[in-house]
Amino acid sequence: MALADFVADLDALLTAAQQSFGGAADKATLEAARIEYLGAKNGRLKEAQKGLGKVDGPDKPAAGKRFNEVKQALDALFADAEARLAAPDAAAAGDPTFDPTEPGRRVPLGHLHPLTQTIEELKEIMGRLGFSVVQGPEVEDEWHNFEALNIPLSHPARDPLENFYLATAEKLASGPMLLRSQTSTVQIRVMEKTKPPVRIISLGRVYRPDDADATHYPMFHQIEGLLVDRGVTMADLKSVLRLFAISYFGGDVHIRFRPSFFPFTEPSVEVDMLWNDRWIEMGGAGMVDPNVLRAVGYDPEEVTGFAFGLGVERVCARKYQVTDIREFYHNDVRFLAQF
Ligand code: PHE
Repeated sequence: MALADFVADLDALLTAAQQSFGGAADKATLEAARIEYLGAKNGRLKEAQKGLGKVDGPDKPAAGKRFNEVKQALDALFADAEARLAAPDAAAAGDPTFDPTEPGRRVPLGHLHPLTQTIEELKEIMGRLGFSVVQGPEVEDEWHNFEALNIPLSHPARDPLENFYLATAEKLASGPMLLRSQTSTVQIRVMEKTKPPVRIISLGRVYRPDDADATHYPMFHQIEGLLVDRGVTMADLKSVLRLFAISYFGGDVHIRFRPSFFPFTEPSVEVDMLWNDRWIEMGGAGMVDPNVLRAVGYDPEEVTGFAFGLGVERVCARKYQVTDIREFYHNDVRFLAQF
């Protein structure tokens, strides 16, 4: 057999294979083409190889070289076609029901939980008012949760039935430990470490053994604010809370203080906000009690301060008309998707 004929046959084979592999629109067609050209038994390449033995002696090396080139080219063509069909859009292109002019399917994306969104927003608002964010531990000792906050041992707030004391805590040298019942603990932690002036907020989970209902849950979130400096007054407290409320709710919000009692503030108030013609109870506030300032080594003759603790669920629920705070914890996407 003449070398020229052998090479011409190979070239024809290559051209045909290019069309078959390149044109295969699905995996079954490609597999059929693979068997036709590369099949180990009766494949066309195998057939062509038989011609190699018939090429005249001196031309054999050149014929062999060309044969190997074509073989490699076929392997590459097949690999390319295989990769092309593995790509998802190519699979769709071979699908007669695929309409490229239709709008794409929307991939559902998650987002932050409404409470997390609220917390981020509150941080941002208070940040603009000059308050920096600090964090405190959720497992606390009695000093930070009670004593330093002027809550003496005899106080009913320390009743084991009102708190989540940790069973293992009895054995600790630090004394009993509990899940913090309020973020006011962070006031103490900050003042113990910093000299006045102090201007912080702290946001996080607090725990109380309440039965869950529309307005209660054994775990909820508070935002605590603390400002200590020379000459701080109730008027500062009220204007900060008002600015805060206006920024969060938008529009005109009124603030109302009702006399109240907290061991760590004097005077103490309950804070209500009027928004959309309804008063909302937001939480507690007041002027930091001199006993608290003394407990952390501040001089109450030199500095005064205000503190407030508001319920995050409450402000969020009010803004979005959520009527049952348990919704926040069920994690039902039909609820969460609305935020
Ligand atoms: N810690 C109080 C509570 O949990 C709220 C509060 C914070 C009151 C700061 C006064 C000052 O209800």
